Amino acid sequence: METANSGDVDNFKTVFKYFKQKAQAPCYRDVIDFQTQRNNMTINKVPIEGFCNDMGLRFSKSLTVLQPDSIPGLSFICNPFTEEGQQLWSKRCLEMYPLQPSKTNIGDVTHSNDVWKNWCKSVNGFASSKLGNNKGQLQVLKSSPIWKLRWVTLGYHHNWDTKVYSDDNVSLFPPELNQLANVFATAVGEPKYNAEAAIINYYHVGSTLSPHTDHSEKNLKAPLISISFGLPAIFLIGGLNKAQTPQAILIRSGDVIIMSEKSRLSYHAVPRILECDVEKPRHDPKELFLAHSRINMNIRQVLTS
Ligand code: OGA
Ligand code: MN
Repeated sequence: METANSGDVDNFKTVFKYFKQKAQAPCYRDVIDFQTQRNNMTINKVPIEGFCNDMGLRFSKSLTVLQPDSIPGLSFICNPFTEEGQQLWSKRCLEMYPLQPSKTNIGDVTHSNDVWKNWCKSVNGFASSKLGNNKGQLQVLKSSPIWKLRWVTLGYHHNWDTKVYSDDNVSLFPPELNQLANVFATAVGEPKYNAEAAIINYYHVGSTLSPHTDHSEKNLKAPLISISFGLPAIFLIGGLNKAQTPQAILIRSGDVIIMSEKSRLSYHAVPRILECDVEKPRHDPKELFLAHSRINMNIRQVLTS
């Protein structure tokens, strides 16, 4: 069992439970919203010319990297993707990345048992009235096997039991994802970044990710790069032990978080996925899925270089 030090006070857990609870909506007053708050942070405009075109990034001469004073080592980039870019990466996470040789929580996904393809086929068969509102949409999603997909691992496959990366359990890391990770790593001064492992997390309203640190990588200096699509979420980031009270951050679709230096080994968690607040008919399989889910691509460099 993991223990907290500093007198065993687990302030992380208290905040995690507060945001997770269902009885009443939590108060969001102390949550950092980088879209509206720019006080007490360093704002770096980093040139990225020549990068954006085929990566789904908005055409811009620079990326704005926000570094809050209260969380040393954490960098935040407000959605740098175009609408098409978000569609492109979400599509890869649903259609391409789950396929064998990737590992997933639902076993090997092959062309003959492809949960995403089956979901797309089944959407055409639902009565139009079912897909007219969020309640009906959630009902059909919950009854589909795609709803059980929770994680996919790419490159060095994270071993959930031993937490050890092994040369016997590795597949080719998607080059386009390495290229994207490199743009963000370069923006925080790590141009030699080599993405070698990723966990794609799939969340729904009510899903959480418990407080943890990511420390299995041999290279603990290379940053963790986290890119999210779909529903917004509350992200908590604390310190090296659970006694430190974590800061809550609002993450929206397309936002990028980079944990480097002092925050590379910090405790973090996702206590809450925010519900979809737009009621409308949805008939497109991807739009339906993303209106009620959150996808997170969590990228790591594993080896020392
Ligand atoms: C992880 C992780 C954060 C998120 O997969 O290790 O911390 O925002 N994910 O989903
Ligand atoms: Mn993590």
